Amino acid sequence: MAQRQIREVGDDILRKKSRPVEEIDEKIQQLIDDMYETLKVSNDGIGIAAPQVGILKRVIIVDLSSEGGEGPYKLINPVIKKAKGEQICREGCLSVPGVLGDVVRPKEVVVEALNEKGKKVTIKASDLLAIVLCHEIDHLDGILFIDKATDFYDADEEEMEDDL
Ligand code: NI
Repeated sequence: MAQRQIREVGDDILRKKSRPVEEIDEKIQQLIDDMYETLKVSNDGIGIAAPQVGILKRVIIVDLSSEGGEGPYKLINPVIKKAKGEQICREGCLSVPGVLGDVVRPKEVVVEALNEKGKKVTIKASDLLAIVLCHEIDHLDGILFIDKATDFYDADEEEMEDDL
């Protein structure tokens, strides 16, 4: 496993649409391992998407285990099949350092994806897990939370928040 460099806002790659994974080969396994390591060494990171390490493939990792929550989920070709309700979350992002913003997200989502072994999985998520899934899937379409946020905050003046 190797840590990869996090791309930051201003880098064009974050604005591109990622391509579906067609075959879960060694390269994809390596990508998932490296993304997981990169997420683990980041401060407060609870989610990461492949474009954030410069790879335009539809792969995300969501891990709330550091706060006693669910995960890690290592997901390939994730799709939001259902979304219900609304919630507002103060979000941050490893690719947008120093900035937090309030974003309206669905309260509940159903996400279908393949796991790292290629098995189809369905995740019924609510609250923070739903937020992080939506945030990471947005990355796969070149969307950052700052595109959707209504209010912005300086991360240094706020309590430590989680980076998605
Ligand atoms: Ni992010």
